[in-house]
Amino acid sequence: MAFKKIGVVGCGLMGRGIAEVSAKTGYDVVVSEINRELLDKGMAAINQSLAKAVEKGKMTEADRDKTLSKIKGTVDMQEFKDCDLVVEAAIENLGLKKKIFIDLDRICAPGAILSTNTSCLSVMDVAAVTKRPDKVLGCHFFNPVPVMKLLELVKTITTSQETLDAALEWGKSLGKTVIVAPDRPGFIVNRAFMPYMVEAFEMYESGVASREDIDTGVQLGLNHPMGPLTLADMVGLDTLLFVIDAIYAETKNPKFVAPVLLRKMVTAGHLGRKTGKGFYDYK
Ligand code: 3HC
Repeated sequence: MAFKKIGVVGCGLMGRGIAEVSAKTGYDVVVSEINRELLDKGMAAINQSLAKAVEKGKMTEADRDKTLSKIKGTVDMQEFKDCDLVVEAAIENLGLKKKIFIDLDRICAPGAILSTNTSCLSVMDVAAVTKRPDKVLGCHFFNPVPVMKLLELVKTITTSQETLDAALEWGKSLGKTVIVAPDRPGFIVNRAFMPYMVEAFEMYESGVASREDIDTGVQLGLNHPMGPLTLADMVGLDTLLFVIDAIYAETKNPKFVAPVLLRKMVTAGHLGRKTGKGFYDYK
């Protein structure tokens, strides 16, 4: 089954990236937000990202215009009614995601595939509120979506092979390398990523090394594009805390106990780049 029209719920950091990449690769896209203000902000960010690509000579003006013409922003979920695939990229709140899936299940055609871009929540929990659990799977994209090459698809115990095959075809057509993960806490990538981040936070918290040495050590010693504390500031400390806590809640594995400092920083609003302060200052 080849998709023609993709729906994206949420035009935040992940949603707008998914919308941009889908439109760039030729799909018609509908992206929704909960109000006009957030929608305008998200659409402006897509415009800016494409303008940057033109500036850098990575895209022609004609291709930018074509891409933009393929994206329709909306505040009305009914617009998803003729989408072949809808990717929900709302905030990481299971109650909210379930509510969105109940709505999508009602609005979308019976054959449409529904997907959640969660980084850690149980995909089966959202599939179970629909009447089409065989057509539900997880799509875990990475930040920044237009740059990161990986797409992690998450297959639940009810996802059909047909659904998975269609999502694999779509993921590859976006230019992503696609892996298939089981619906287990952390899937594949965050199961490896979070203990590494916890260790970096603990090293910093206990004064083993300075933030700069931790970052430089990992960046140059392991050839990572950025060190863990810089990366934490980019991803958002609240997001990381949420993922670590969610994996711990399901596994009770001590590898996923969030360091006290991380929790305090989130409480203080030191969330990283987005608030101007995290492990580093950005003001
Ligand atoms: N949108 C679009 N393009 C972007 C971008 C964005 N937000 N940020 C950077 N780019 C592009 C730039 O235009 C540039 O393209 P070019 O080389 O063709 O000109 C390229 O990416 C490199 O950017 P810069 O030169 O500005 O900066 P860097 O070389 O430092 O790269 C980076 C920035 C791509 C963010 C790189 O440092 C990186 O890959 N960092 C690691 C990111 C990572 O690990 N992400 C995963 C986070 S975990 C996650 O998402 C999972 C979740 O569940 C927690």
